[in-house]
Parts: sequence; C-alpha cells; structure tokens
Amino acid sequence: MSTIDLAHRWPRAPVRALSPARGDEDFGVYVHWPFCLAKCPYCDFNSHVRHGGIDETRFLAAYLAELAHFAALAPGRRVSSVFFGGGTPSLMRPSTVAAILEAIAQVWRLEPDAEITLEANPTSVEAEHFAGYRAAGVNRLSLGIQALDDASLKALGRQHSAEEALAALLLAKRHFGRVSFDLIYAREGQTARQWRDELGIALGHAADHLSLYQLTIEDGTPFAARYRAGTLRTPSGTEARALYALAQELCEAAGLPAYEVSNHARPGSESRHNLLYWRGCDYAGIGPGAHARIQTDGAKRALATIKLPEDWLGEVEASGHGIASDMILSAEEAADEYLLMGLRLSEGIDLARLSAIGGRVPNEARVAALVQEGLVTQTDDRLAVTAEGRLVLDWLIAELAA
Ligand SMILES: C[S@@+](CC[C@H](N)C(=O)[O-])C[C@H]1O[C@@H](n2cnc3c(N)ncnc32)[C@H](O)[C@@H]1O
Ligand code: SF4
Repeated sequence: MSTIDLAHRWPRAPVRALSPARGDEDFGVYVHWPFCLAKCPYCDFNSHVRHGGIDETRFLAAYLAELAHFAALAPGRRVSSVFFGGGTPSLMRPSTVAAILEAIAQVWRLEPDAEITLEANPTSVEAEHFAGYRAAGVNRLSLGIQALDDASLKALGRQHSAEEALAALLLAKRHFGRVSFDLIYAREGQTARQWRDELGIALGHAADHLSLYQLTIEDGTPFAARYRAGTLRTPSGTEARALYALAQELCEAAGLPAYEVSNHARPGSESRHNLLYWRGCDYAGIGPGAHARIQTDGAKRALATIKLPEDWLGEVEASGHGIASDMILSAEEAADEYLLMGLRLSEGIDLARLSAIGGRVPNEARVAALVQEGLVTQTDDRLAVTAEGRLVLDWLIAELAA
C-alpha cells in the first residue's frame, strides 16, 4: 500500500548530462548495517533493534569473510564507490568501518578518489563518531534528518530533535567534504506553506546534495496499520504532487536541481554510488539483506543475502557467505531493469547501452509519437521522460518496454 503517486517517482527535471559521467565500468560496494536504536513506524528497511547489544567483533569477522567471497565472484574490479547503508551505520565503531575499508582495498583496487559514503542518524551519540569515520576514509556523509520541526520528528518516531539534527549537520560539514541529508515530505497535515518554509531552511543549510522522499506507506509498518484504520491521513495525490513541484522549483532555484526522482545536487556533486545503480553498473552487496548485481561470463547475476542478522551471521560463519539467492537475469530482465532504473534519472537512458544489454530498443515510430505528445525526449541515443510523461509513467514504461 502506498500514498505514492507518480510525482514522487518521476522527476520533471529536464534532461541534463551528469558530470562526471564515469562510465559503465564503475563498480560499487554496498555494506548493509542492519541495526537501529529504535524502529521508526514508517520504515520497512531491513533494520532491527537489539536492546541486548550485538557482538560487533563477530559481525566484523563475518563482513570480512563475505567480502572475500564477493571478491572471488567479481575479481580484479576497480572500486569507485563504497556505501555504508542501513539500518544505522553510524552505530558502527569507526574501527569496524576502517577494517572493512582496508579489506575492500585489499581484495579490489579502491580508487584513490573513490566516493565513500556513510549514512548517519543525527543523534549526539553517533555524531561523536564523525571524526573517527573521517579518519577511517569516509569522505561523504548522508544524514537522515527527515524533518526540521520537533512535532513532525515526534510524529515520525524519530529519536532526535530538530536542533540536534542541525547541530549534527554542522558537525558533519566540518568533518566531511561532501554532505547530504534526507527529508521526508507529504507528512500528515503538512501544508505547502509549511513545506516551503521547511525547505527554505533546509536549502539554507544544504551542502552539495539533498534527498527528498515522499512519505511512502509501507505494508507491515505501524504507519500502514494506522493508515488503514484511518488514524493517519497523508496529503492527497494532488496535494503531494504540489509539494513535489514546489520542491523541484525551490531546489532548482537554489542550485540543486533534481538529477533523479528524489535526489538533488549541485552539478558535479551527484552521488556516484547511487548513479551506478541507476545506470545499471555492477556492485557487490555485503551484510544482512544486501543486494548485488554482478556481470559474469556475459550474464548479469542478481544476488541477495539473508535478511535476519543472526541468521546471516550463522550462515557466513558456516559457509563463508550469507547469499540467499543468486539468479542469472535474462537479457530481457536486465534490459527492463536498466529501463526502469535509468528513467528515474534526468539524463534518462542510453539506447545503445540498452541494446548492448540485449534489450529491444523502443520502436522508433512509437518513440517519435511519444516525443510528439511531449511525454519523452530523445537526443541522439538518450531517451528521457518529461514532466508530462512522469504522470503516466507506469504506462510509459510498459509502452517503451513492449
Ligand atoms: C534506510 S534509511 C537509513 C537512514 C537512517 N537510518 C535514518 O533513518 O536517518 C534511508 C532514508 O530512507 C527514507 N525513508 C525510509 N522509509 C521511508 C518511507 N516510508 N517513506 C519515505 N522515505 C523513507 C528516509 O529519509 C531515510 O533517511
Ligand atoms: S528510518 Fe532509519 S533509523 Fe528509522 S528504522 Fe529505518 S533505518 Fe532505522
């Protein structure tokens, strides 16, 4: 179930070539840390609370073992980005982060200018770790701020105040060359005026990157139960679309245009790691519930590890990895994935690449008709969705993939 409308999923930003376009050979490493201090009522990420604490040394050994396994699956790669996501990776000891980064540099070639991001929650406990992460090699921090007023933070079940969030942001900017933060909009009762004010403050504090996510009501969460019971009311589709449009306008004016549905950056500061997902590049994924895409012998493999942390740990200790599924994507599946992911980007997709993956290039006459209708744009080999197109995107993708 979701209140999400197409405005959330599809950018109205015009086609814009991202720079630097590092190419398809970029390889990323995703590290999933599945623990949080508390479970937020809207969140369905693979995140778990362990009041009794966890044996971090044991987990570290398992991360290193699984990393070695992935290095054997994808040997000799040049790592352009590493992303510590969660859960709450800012609960990791800096020494754990350092050990994982050292291991990555040993099993693969870590580019000297690799983008190394860590997701952090802005509580003071975790903010104290920032200097340690920087020393470990992290050069980009992504802070989950979510809202800039205490009532909204409370409604979202967050463990921090707006003041703490801004203090953590200030500290992050002191330690890291690159800083991003997340906000959630289309919250209960949120008006356009409130969002304009909040975004105005956010943009005043923004560094080089901002992620704006429309609240999604995810099945199985406390928010979904309340939504079904009618005790949680989120903005209507029309209202949410207006909030989305407002965000595009304000971010663009502040020099942080959308380069993806929910992501804004100063040109050149786009997240290199996220770009490789959307551009269909390869990545390893280690830790509980991590996903990976690895090209071997001309075929794209989709891998995922066991989600429950303790089960994953036991399996890695027993067999050296916690991979739960390993499937070879057909050329059609790989092409569909590229189409779906790539159309999220304002730069759109590369038709030559789509064809190289083995996908059917959309029918020329059909594309021409869609261009005529103002739903897509095509410049040489690039195909992108327009503002109008995103309103009928599911249909559009089906049309283009047919
Ligand atoms: C996996 S979370 C990890 C970040 C970190 N644990 C935190 O909460 O600050 C990444 C981001 O996803 C977004 N997010 C999570 N659940 C969401 C939902 N149901 N709707 C919209 N955004 C969501 C939040 O903005 C969050 O910062
Ligand atoms: S939103 Fe972040 S802190 Fe909250 S439960 Fe999800 S991963 Fe954990």
